[in-house]
Amino acid sequence: MRVLVTGAAGKVGKATVPHLQAAGHSVTASDRFGRSFDRPDPGAAPHVTADLTDAGQVFSLVGGFTETEAGPKPGRFDAVVHAGAIPAPGRHAPHTVFGNNLMGLFHVVEACVRWQVPRLVNISSETAAGFLFAERPWYPAYLPVDEDLPDAPQDPYGLAKLLGEQVCAAAVRRSDLRCVSLRPTWVQDAGSYARNLGPSVADPEEPSLTGWSYIDAGDLAAAIRLAVECDLTGHEVFYIAADDTIGGRDLHASWRRAFPDSPTELRPVERPDASGISTGKARRLLGWRPEVSWADHLNPDGTPRARAVPAEGRA
Ligand SMILES: NC(=O)c1ccc[n+]([C@@H]2O[C@H](COP(=O)([O-])OP(=O)(O)OC[C@H]3O[C@@H](n4cnc5c(N)ncnc54)[C@H](O)[C@@H]3O)[C@@H](O)[C@H]2O)c1
Repeated sequence: MRVLVTGAAGKVGKATVPHLQAAGHSVTASDRFGRSFDRPDPGAAPHVTADLTDAGQVFSLVGGFTETEAGPKPGRFDAVVHAGAIPAPGRHAPHTVFGNNLMGLFHVVEACVRWQVPRLVNISSETAAGFLFAERPWYPAYLPVDEDLPDAPQDPYGLAKLLGEQVCAAAVRRSDLRCVSLRPTWVQDAGSYARNLGPSVADPEEPSLTGWSYIDAGDLAAAIRLAVECDLTGHEVFYIAADDTIGGRDLHASWRRAFPDSPTELRPVERPDASGISTGKARRLLGWRPEVSWADHLNPDGTPRARAVPAEGRA
């Protein structure tokens, strides 16, 4: 399939582009940051620079006519993976996060509908439910959370993600576009495990409202590929997380210690160190399962392992 990936210069995009290419897809990468105009590296995906907040640029991008310098234009894409967004509030003004993320998605959806792109994979976030950035106390009603948890975001980032999912839902009502929204939790790649998860592995008392969840960028890329290739109709939303907790904590015991006053119902889990986010729906409908654990990258004291263990090399 011919697949466009927005946000290709970012953490998720950098994992997704080569993963899709390795699966045999013809990938075009896009970001607001341009590449050099020199001859690209062999095998590198063609790159188109576009600001997703500009409807005209997105219309050209999704229609495929900003791609290539000469000769026939390849035309619209078979699928669009939308990962171009500011990945958190707090480092930009609230209206910048909200406006950039929601209008970027809106323009991508609108262009997909008008160009009759069959499939959109929208990278949403677990924060659409209310996690992480709430100004007033917020706890999940139950753990592990799943797609039935009512959404109640307070902050501009999570709110834009939730509204973005509604933009997708509206698009499938008015067109033949089929959408998958993936809600990854905290994304880690080889360069970030030690920095991001190391302190939490080292300190068993560190709290985490998402039930110490995280996801490997390669495992997320695999979920994105399955979402691109699947034949699901309508708009489906999936949480995406690793199987285990950061540091292999006992979910129930750690939650009770960290948040003794929370009203959160602790539901049965298949393993004591189960993530606070359930990915049962993604397993059932996408056939996805995560393969990478924090323990492949970090020692039990949170320091980096001398050599990360590749998923296929583990027992
Ligand atoms: N990193 C995480 O832990 C995490 C967790 C859940 C969801 N997400 C979501 O995953 C997606 C990718 O995040 P990431 O971690 O790769 O972030 P990132 O910042 O590493 O990459 C995002 C990319 O999007 C591009 N971008 C942002 N606004 C743009 C615009 N207006 N026009 C064109 N390009 C634009 C940026 O230039 C950047 O290269 C985002 O939608 C983010 O909200 C990330």
